[in-house]
Amino acid sequence: MATPAIFLCFVSEGKRRRVSAPGRIVRSPDHLYVIIGKFLELTIQTSHYANAVNRVQPSAIRELFSLLSRPDVISLAGGFPSAAALDLNGVRGATERALISSLATSFQYGNSEGYEPLRELIAQRARTKGMKLDASDLLITTGSQQAIDLITRVLVDPGDRVAVETPTYLGALQTFQFQGADVLPVPTDHEGVKVEELEEMIVRHRPKLLYLIPNFANPTGYVMSLRRRKQVLALARIHRFYIVEDDAYGELYFREPPPPTLLALANDEERQWVVHLASFSKILAPGLRLAWLSAPAEFLRHVVVAKQLSDTHTSTLSQLTAFHYLRAGSLEPALNRMRSFYENQARAMQRAIKAELSGTPFNAMHPEGGMFYWADLPFVDTAAILRNAIDEHGVAYVPGAAFYTGQPAHTRLRLSFASASAEQIGEGIRRLARCIRWESLGASNHASTHASTHASNQIPRQEQLP
Ligand SMILES: Cc1ncc(COP(=O)(O)O)c(C=O)c1O
Repeated sequence: MATPAIFLCFVSEGKRRRVSAPGRIVRSPDHLYVIIGKFLELTIQTSHYANAVNRVQPSAIRELFSLLSRPDVISLAGGFPSAAALDLNGVRGATERALISSLATSFQYGNSEGYEPLRELIAQRARTKGMKLDASDLLITTGSQQAIDLITRVLVDPGDRVAVETPTYLGALQTFQFQGADVLPVPTDHEGVKVEELEEMIVRHRPKLLYLIPNFANPTGYVMSLRRRKQVLALARIHRFYIVEDDAYGELYFREPPPPTLLALANDEERQWVVHLASFSKILAPGLRLAWLSAPAEFLRHVVVAKQLSDTHTSTLSQLTAFHYLRAGSLEPALNRMRSFYENQARAMQRAIKAELSGTPFNAMHPEGGMFYWADLPFVDTAAILRNAIDEHGVAYVPGAAFYTGQPAHTRLRLSFASASAEQIGEGIRRLARCIRWESLGASNHASTHASTHASNQIPRQEQLP
């Protein structure tokens, strides 16, 4: 911490901290005020950082992930797309075409809304999915994480209420918390957010926005049902709150596409309350940092100003790359390959779960898309055993507690089938099964078995956590 700064201040009538006796000390998170007299105080600034930095704590779980660099640990934790699933040669070709056809533009400033021809192609594609969009309804953002941040800055003042389906994406939770929002969890089941509980919460707390991941949600993999999508839209219209629909995984269905997006389902009145996000991270390349958002016109204007203040515009080269990729018609065939790749990955995990975990209390629903298994281990605190899972058994997952605000479900865990190979998935689940038995039955019975099996199962390391 920097050396505390000490100031002697005259205090105006309006700002007087206390009509209190001289000598009294008043504390705030980053200041101490020593009252000297009615209009004079000594201010000791104990921290130079904004209060926001204290609202988001580095989690103990994240710290454990430093252990993942060990080559003998299999990570089922990360949500990175697999390099084997991405069409990297296609992306390279599109980058080359961008550089050959528009070298100067590729490295030039662009406008804050995004490269117009790319927005045209995105809007065209969105229209095929029932979303009535023109290029002018869209803003290109530097990943959808930035979109969440910009929306939050435009809508949320410290103390405002934000509703989130729970569990939900940690990056969104932290963004809301950093801004000082009062984040209110709404329970979900396999059909998405529970509408009755949502309505009750809305009537009582009047949140400004509701954050949802309707398709193959992170971390649950659940898909919100058509019925609930329509019900939530009606609630937004009646109670006047924004729905932020984060569609990061909607393209990654295995067989059947999910129901239409909330934006596609909304009538004209409901549309005024829908902000839709989609990302190229999982379907093109996360390193391009490319996503888009659509919002009602006035909302969009505010977001564009926030973006100007944040990064002026999204990387021109990334946008031109995506433009050439889409224009060449490369996305649809790549998506088809990706869908069957992730389906095979998910099946490998399903087979391993069946073979290795059937004798344990583990239960999980098989996902129909996305990247995650969301599992429950009754009576096991998954955060408490993570260190052992990594250290002793050589496998990592994300404990469910990371995805909650308020009361976490300690028995949950997220397993990703995205970036490990099928072989690693099988071995990772075997190790997890050993870990669960070890934790449930007591370590002593297993000491000898573990020592030999763990040593003989060294598998090459894969990509680590985002
Ligand atoms: C639900 C969800 N939203 C947003 C993001 C951020 O993605 P990006 O900023 O790469 O577009 C992620 C990342 O994993 C996510 O899972």
